[in-house]
Amino acid sequence: MGVPLAEIRYFEEIGSTNDIALQWVEQGAADASLVVADTQTQGRGRMQRKWITTPGAALAFSLVLRPEQDQKDRMQFYSPLGALAICQVLREKYQLDAQIKWPNDVLIKRRKTCGILTEAYWLGQEICGVVIGIGINIAPESIPRDGEVLYPVTCLENETGLKIDRWVFLKEILDSILIWRQRLCEPIFFEAWQKNLAFVGAMVRIGGDSGSQITGQLLGITTDGSLRILQNDRQEVAVKVGDVHLRVQ
Ligand code: BTN
Repeated sequence: MGVPLAEIRYFEEIGSTNDIALQWVEQGAADASLVVADTQTQGRGRMQRKWITTPGAALAFSLVLRPEQDQKDRMQFYSPLGALAICQVLREKYQLDAQIKWPNDVLIKRRKTCGILTEAYWLGQEICGVVIGIGINIAPESIPRDGEVLYPVTCLENETGLKIDRWVFLKEILDSILIWRQRLCEPIFFEAWQKNLAFVGAMVRIGGDSGSQITGQLLGITTDGSLRILQNDRQEVAVKVGDVHLRVQ
């Protein structure tokens, strides 16, 4: 593939590439090991949502990273690492105006084209592996039907008008992730994330799984990756990454 990966495990059909990658981490998968599937029967999204992967039309993969010591307290940066890498490839190689919907979706013209589910593998008190699971809608058949998702969606081929080679695109993304991961602790990473952030200046509503809600103007992100919201009472609050969802009002 030309990317410095440790090993690749490819499946025509699998439950979830994240599940396989997490098992593999437990069994000792090396840094930069990759699980790829043509289709998933149990694809998972954030907040226990289902993720659909249409065979031949999408990308579904999970990358195993073994964080360096100084990266172990940066768990909240791994999904943005994937999102930033994808945004950069979409901008530079496909001339698409891609943006990151905090914390970790990639949007093109405000429509979701990619979702990321990052999961950590802990040994006692210490994180010893991170799995970045990425699903990308490539061809029109990958777009979920009406009623299957709660947000507007699109796919790369509709946005570019081109036929996309999934494996070329996968290689480009992996190259970009492996470059950016070396800069995870540097200000440039945070700056690039902030620059690619969607909805800055817009009025948004953040909902938590406990039913709590915060509304206000999206200002940007803090250096620890929390979302800065200016509430109607002019108080600024920082919302941490967790089981929260963001809606534009
Ligand atoms: C989301 O938008 O909620 C995140 C979706 C993440 C989907 C990817 S597809 C590859 C990997 N395997 C999974 O089961 N989920 C992630």
